[in-house]
Amino acid sequence: MARILITSAIPYINGIKHLGNLVGSQLPADLYARYCRARGHEVMFICATDEHGTPAELAAAKAGKPVAAYCAEMYEVQKKLGEGFRLSFDHFGRSSSGRNESLTQHFAGKLAENGYIEEVTERQVYSNADGRFLPDRYIEGTCPNCGYEKARGDQCENCTKQLDPTDLIDPRSAISGSTDLEVRETKHLYLRQSALKDQLEAWIDSKTDWPVLTTSIARKWLHDGEGLRDRGITRDLDWGVPVKKGDQDWPGMEGKVFYVWFDAPIEYIGATAEWADAHGHDEAAWRRWWRLDEGAEDVTYVQFMGKDNVPFHTLSFPATIMGSGEPWKLVDYIKSFNYLNYDGGQFSTSQGRGVFMDQALELLPADYWRWWLLSHAPENQDAEFTWENFQANANKDLADVLGNFVSRVTKFCRSRFGEEVPAGGAWGPAEEALVSDLQERVAAYDAHMAAMEIRKAAAELRAIWVEGNEYLQAAEPWAKFKTDPEAAAAAIRLSLNLIRVYAVLSQPFIPDASATLMGALQTRDDSWPEDMRAALDALPAGHAFTVPDVLFRKISDDERDAWHDRFAGGRG
Ligand code: 2FM
Ligand code: ZN
Repeated sequence: MARILITSAIPYINGIKHLGNLVGSQLPADLYARYCRARGHEVMFICATDEHGTPAELAAAKAGKPVAAYCAEMYEVQKKLGEGFRLSFDHFGRSSSGRNESLTQHFAGKLAENGYIEEVTERQVYSNADGRFLPDRYIEGTCPNCGYEKARGDQCENCTKQLDPTDLIDPRSAISGSTDLEVRETKHLYLRQSALKDQLEAWIDSKTDWPVLTTSIARKWLHDGEGLRDRGITRDLDWGVPVKKGDQDWPGMEGKVFYVWFDAPIEYIGATAEWADAHGHDEAAWRRWWRLDEGAEDVTYVQFMGKDNVPFHTLSFPATIMGSGEPWKLVDYIKSFNYLNYDGGQFSTSQGRGVFMDQALELLPADYWRWWLLSHAPENQDAEFTWENFQANANKDLADVLGNFVSRVTKFCRSRFGEEVPAGGAWGPAEEALVSDLQERVAAYDAHMAAMEIRKAAAELRAIWVEGNEYLQAAEPWAKFKTDPEAAAAAIRLSLNLIRVYAVLSQPFIPDASATLMGALQTRDDSWPEDMRAALDALPAGHAFTVPDVLFRKISDDERDAWHDRFAGGRG
């Protein structure tokens, strides 16, 4: 039994996530966590909301709420949606927690002690009307290059020229529209990532088994010099983790907070501590996942994220950990994802384009979405959601293949043998062949799951479901019942046992259907089918079961068209 720490990138607090966000981190992380638990490993699966930064402040302002209240509310919404999708976090924390605050301040203090923090004086735009410094993209004005009147302080959308806020003609605050702006000096802390370049590079080079998507992004940032420019890790904002050196004040940094991307990954640790607090465990309980000197030597740590998050996880967060000089656990494997597109375009939170987590659950139970999203995970390239594909996938794989097998077997048994596993005769060549095929396929499935090859795992699982149908079609227990009732009973006994095997294998993908099957079979035996022969004999003759309700209903063409039209106009 291994110990596996799994984290999903923590979603921003400002709004409900869309299906593209879900499949890029939380859902595949959940699949892996469920698989690892099913294989008997000790798992700690962590996620949280990412609550700091300007986007959170602005979203709260837009909602007309104090930012702390807004975050508390949205946290509950996101938590509930996660539960709706059956995301099996051991803890879903908050980056605004006291745990994250003290850990973030602790890391900053250690980095300073070790000479990795530099104090830099910058000139930034201050808005008198708003009473705050404005980040570049919250300053608007006329582009000096093309005359476009709504250019932002970082870039002109019209001519794409990169800008500095002081380049803008007639600059104004994008928050209040005020033109009462001035340039003020302000001091910030910079993390000297460049001083850790060699150490980071050697570490990335040692990760020969990482997905190319992950290492290619990391190398690009290392070698362009882009990602390894020293980064400002503080901001002039009200909302965030106050800048301190451990528990000491930081002279000259009064009223400032850490940059959201500095404290967010530290929340992986923070949320594990929050987990311990929530369960009344001691410090050692969470530290054994994170401190190499307190038990984490034998932990394997896997992170899941979209490709846009890779630089922060391959360079910045490791720089924080390495620079601390303390024995914190570094990630062992980063599984990253491309993007999921929506029906010929992109999912977009700002434009409300695509299907959002709350809307999805209003239409259909989680398993339908989980199955489509995971079997189409954007692993090697971007993927696209279309309603046609979604309908075809659910109707075929879930209803026709898996659902139909379960329904035929259980109903036939009830009508001919009653609601208990029949005895039947010995297995013949067809059963022996099935056992050996399944043994091989389950080994392949297991290997894909262990390697986090999600699409390949889904394809293998589907093939395992198909095997059952093909066997049943050939065995024809309904025809044999008259001529050779012993053989018919043996086929049904095996098939009922196969339903249990399906429930166990499918659980990471479609946990609700799996629970329904286990309930109908009235068993708690969720042991992994290592030995297929034994697994197909687990439920003995005489074991009672009930016929489950329809496992997956079909999606009609009318529904498909209506949903297509309903979502064409954006969230609105
Ligand atoms: O892209 C995002 O949604 C970020 N909130 C991810 C942060 S992951 C980590 F750093 F915690
Ligand atoms: Zn321009």
